[in-house]
Amino acid sequence: MALFIAIFGLVLVFCFCSALLRWNEVRYSKKGLPPGTMGWPLFGETTEFLKQGPNFLKTQRARYGSFFKSHILGCPTIVSMDPELNRYILMNESKGLVPGYPKSMLDILGKCNIAAVHGSTHKYMRGALLSLISPTLIKDQLLPKIDDFMRSHLSNWENKVINIQHKTKEMAFLSTLKQIAGMESSSISNSFMTEFFKLVLGTLSLPIDLPATNYRRGFQARKNIVNIVSKILEERRASNESYKDMLGSLMGKNDCKYKLSDEEIIDLVITLIYSGYETVSTTSMMAVKYLHDHPKALEELRKEHSAIRESKNPNDPIDYNDLKSMKFTRAVIFETSRLATIVNGVLRKTTQDMELNGYLIPKGWRIYVYTREINYDPFLYPNPLIFNPWRWLDKSLESQNYFLIFGGGTRLCPGKELAIAEISTFLHYFVTRYRWEEVGGDKLMKFPRVQAPNGLHIRVSSLNNN
Ligand code: HEM
Repeated sequence: MALFIAIFGLVLVFCFCSALLRWNEVRYSKKGLPPGTMGWPLFGETTEFLKQGPNFLKTQRARYGSFFKSHILGCPTIVSMDPELNRYILMNESKGLVPGYPKSMLDILGKCNIAAVHGSTHKYMRGALLSLISPTLIKDQLLPKIDDFMRSHLSNWENKVINIQHKTKEMAFLSTLKQIAGMESSSISNSFMTEFFKLVLGTLSLPIDLPATNYRRGFQARKNIVNIVSKILEERRASNESYKDMLGSLMGKNDCKYKLSDEEIIDLVITLIYSGYETVSTTSMMAVKYLHDHPKALEELRKEHSAIRESKNPNDPIDYNDLKSMKFTRAVIFETSRLATIVNGVLRKTTQDMELNGYLIPKGWRIYVYTREINYDPFLYPNPLIFNPWRWLDKSLESQNYFLIFGGGTRLCPGKELAIAEISTFLHYFVTRYRWEEVGGDKLMKFPRVQAPNGLHIRVSSLNNN
């Protein structure tokens, strides 16, 4: 009898689950949608996506082709893995393919954040941002600040075990803060950093507004950051001094082409820090990892930087010409971004029903422009799983159509050259001052974000003590 009840129970559970799955498929079986599966009600296929990562998407592609439907991270989603189509989607925001980032991210980053604005407002905010990071400004104002910061951030690492993940995260944050507000490490920058780390966690969490959730904490952190920046704005207005930093430019009354409200300035500051934070820090950390594992590449990189150092006095900063001469460094940065796939893809959403690739995509659906696989295409990158920076010395690789490491179209990363300046300066001081070895045993996760859950520890010694 007990056996019969158990079997009956199992059959019942099986029927219920099948009915639920079927019901969810029927719900989304509108005519004209691409093939694919929608998984469970509410959760969709999020578990498979997060657990199996890229393999899940590759399996679905093998079944349904490069353009299929799914339900991930709370939204009905079209996954596009077709390089041609991905380019089309990125180039056609004006046809109703706007950024589709999750609610927690948009809530916490603010309503004037660049990912939240479209059309002419986006053009204006992007123009304001670009005016802060033009090549001339990188040359005259930002690079000297970055150099000064890296010099001190990378001092006294010898004979220590360093968590390079933590150090590069601090670096990405503090270096940007110095460029924005000329701020050195201080009690204000430290409390700003603590709040910023909470804000980042909030943007990556589910939008559940309950006490002690990361979303609520992230929201509170945003409020604290707004207070910190508002206070700086007030103090600067009261002092009548002029400041040669990003805030100074944004607040400039007559000489600034872009007139922004305080709310817009604050959201732009958050945009600047947030956009470069994870990308710059993770690329720097992974460059350290790959260079450690590939001594020939490290030797070549060190040769490039030693030649620059030897042409200078020890305290001379690196300048724009030095930066432009760092061809192999640039190649290391691209190869690191490609092989580690720091950015898996970008998100868009439809603002109206539309036809795409011969299918009908309903309004409000998310489109995951998944660019990861192109990084491992053997036709573009022979032996794609090998770390080979030399491949990037052929400049045409950087300008080929499917190079989407920095996005594309109207949302192409405006911070690309600034990021390269930061990572190159970091690498300059790192490889000319130190040698290092991994302590070992640290786990590295590749998906959905590249990270070392318990840190990446290296034992550092001075290059001159051998
Ligand atoms: C290695 C470093 C970096 C990588 C790999 C990277 C990658 C990207 C990608 C893929 C996008 C496109 C997003 C989309 O289409 O939705 C993007 C956009 C953006 N990036 Fe970067 N980024 C990096 C560094 C930076 C830095 C340092 C800044 C700081 C200025 C920055 C600011 C931005 C902004 C503001 C956008 C949004 C542009 C817009 O919506 O018009 N990025 N980035």
